Amino acid sequence: MCRRTLIPAADKLMHIRPATPADTPAMMRLVKHSATAAQWSREQFERVFGDDPPRRVALVIEEAVGVQGFLVAHEVAGEWEIENIAIAGSARRRGLGTRLLGAFLDQARAQGASAVLLEVRESNHAARWLYEKWAFVESGRRPSYYTLPQEDAIVYRLSLG
Ligand SMILES: CC(C)(COP(=O)(O)OP(=O)(O)OC[C@H]1O[C@@H](n2cnc3c(N)ncnc32)[C@H](O)[C@@H]1OP(=O)(O)O)[C@@H](O)C(=O)NCCC(=O)NCCS
Repeated sequence: MCRRTLIPAADKLMHIRPATPADTPAMMRLVKHSATAAQWSREQFERVFGDDPPRRVALVIEEAVGVQGFLVAHEVAGEWEIENIAIAGSARRRGLGTRLLGAFLDQARAQGASAVLLEVRESNHAARWLYEKWAFVESGRRPSYYTLPQEDAIVYRLSLG
């Protein structure tokens, strides 16, 4: 299990907070420049903050330059699914994804989650390594789940129970 003590020293200006509707343009810019993130429309982002959403967590990670990444997840019957996560291209490989995912896992645990699941393109090694760093394990495969290009999804699961 990845522990916080193993994470490199934080940039003092780095901050993780709940996302708000005002973050939608920044989150849309992030997915536009992240081909492997879920390419949500404005309506899909707005639904994250809708009046009657499922139980949802939306976090952004900020530095002095602004929002550098986000994560959205929702809960069904005690299990959380990570729906989308992206870090700005210029900010990758500096531990921001690790911190953002860690902050989400802390919240999921605090809310009594039994497990966290997600799907990822088989070829998305950067994301798969991030998940494996947090001890997610492969639990399934969805053949041809993705299009453009067509590709299998690997299902990852982290049991918290
Ligand atoms: C996946 C993503 C969120 C990772 O964010 P990040 O801030 O770069 O991740 P970190 O710097 O915290 O790296 C965490 C670990 O992931 C792995 N990793 C991340 N990017 C990697 C790369 N390009 N090559 C190899 N390993 C990589 C490493 O194991 C790394 O740990 P290490 O630096 O201690 O070796 C980022 O690459 C991204 O936004 N990708 C585009 C969107 C996307 O694919 N989302 C996932 C959809 S399922």
